[in-house]
Amino acid sequence: MRTRLRAAVAVTAALAVIGPLGWFWQRSLVPDTYDMAAMGYPDGGGGPAAHAHAHGATLSVADLTGPSGVPDVTVTLTARREGSGYTLNHTSPGPEIRARQGQLVQVTLVNESVADGVTLHWHGVDVPNAEDGVAGVTQDAVGRGQSHVYRFVARDAGTYWYHSHQVSHEQVRLGLFGALVVTPAATSPAPDPVVAVHTYAGRRTVNGRPGVSALAAKPGTVVRARIINTDAGPIRAWVSGAAYRVVAVDGRDVHEPTPVTDTAVLVTAGGRIDVEFTVPQAGARVDVGASTGLVVGPGPDAPATAQPRRTLDLLGYGTPAPLGFDPAKATRVFQYRVGRRPGFLDGRPGLWWTVNGHMFPDLPMFMVTTGDIVRMTISNSSGEVHPMHLHGHHAVVLSRNGVAATGSPWWIDSLDVGDGDTYEIAFVADNPGIWVDHCHNLEHAAEGLLAHLAYQGVSTPYRVGGAAGNRPE
Ligand code: C2O
Ligand code: CU
Repeated sequence: MRTRLRAAVAVTAALAVIGPLGWFWQRSLVPDTYDMAAMGYPDGGGGPAAHAHAHGATLSVADLTGPSGVPDVTVTLTARREGSGYTLNHTSPGPEIRARQGQLVQVTLVNESVADGVTLHWHGVDVPNAEDGVAGVTQDAVGRGQSHVYRFVARDAGTYWYHSHQVSHEQVRLGLFGALVVTPAATSPAPDPVVAVHTYAGRRTVNGRPGVSALAAKPGTVVRARIINTDAGPIRAWVSGAAYRVVAVDGRDVHEPTPVTDTAVLVTAGGRIDVEFTVPQAGARVDVGASTGLVVGPGPDAPATAQPRRTLDLLGYGTPAPLGFDPAKATRVFQYRVGRRPGFLDGRPGLWWTVNGHMFPDLPMFMVTTGDIVRMTISNSSGEVHPMHLHGHHAVVLSRNGVAATGSPWWIDSLDVGDGDTYEIAFVADNPGIWVDHCHNLEHAAEGLLAHLAYQGVSTPYRVGGAAGNRPE
């Protein structure tokens, strides 16, 4: 009797521990196929918060395509498994795509040999939703032997890039990306080289080449270097041998930027910084750290300087200019609080990212309607930096840690949110669809640091998982 009682007590005690654990484990399991837009919970930010299907969706993501008509720029990109990585048209980075502002761009993506399937996302270009390239949300992954056509108008001049958004944490790292430059309609003759930074197998490169590359330019030439960070973490860039101005951030011009010297600028993972300088007699050098950079000048050598200690603070750089909307009239106010805690992610125990205290897939779906003025506070107490990236929109930084922005409007699509930092941003909801809003350290996104901004009444016919094997992150 005593033994049986003891056994019963032991079993009960074990169940008391395992029961809830089992429940948490079970609850964390993500189905093989699911509608991303129906995961998590709607967050109305003070406005209506119904899921699309609650009202009967009126608009499908699949219908939110770019315009028809004859394209001005036509490109075919063929994705292949090659060597130890991936290529587009046999190179990584893939070919640089250039368009003039206002032109219609058409890109045909062909998958020749990438087993998991591929897509292309136009990072920083506010394209119509169906052209956004997110597998399982805005399209199906393009399987081997298949192709997909993207069409969009290059509406905003600036520096952008493209990359696969299928198994992106692996495919981007292994080479499926390239630069996209939209030049102003009235093209200036100034050289504007791309400086695309990427680390292949632990080796930092510029445009695929390790070390320092050279671009011939006469002294006195004004050069605009377009720095793109395609890596998972922030880098610092600077110009040696000349003063420079940061003339654009994330494809948006800075208003009245002043020259700086002895100062580096942070380039967020996924972000872009355009720097402009006049080539001196001895040449100048755009440095991106790890002894990697681009020499611009009359010869292949230019003075190198060590990384400056000072980092430019974009919160107070340049001078104010109209935003085109009034953030004080916000109709939706959201919190995006990134934390971390132990738990189960799809059945796997670990220390996982949280958003507003919730773990993937139980994350907020930020609900908006076209025309909403949105304010969002992004804070981070997770112990690591997160480069937060919202698709389909550009937001302006209002404040950091309670200090208001005083310089040029600081427009971003990728924002480096350090541990302990709080940013307030604002934007206009002017691009209907379902948009991912995630960390661009793509490993983190694959670990569930990914929420959505969703317009009311929009639904998606695509599913994560499914026959196409969609795995956006
Ligand atoms: Cu450059 Cu969702 O990513
Ligand atoms: Cu992150």
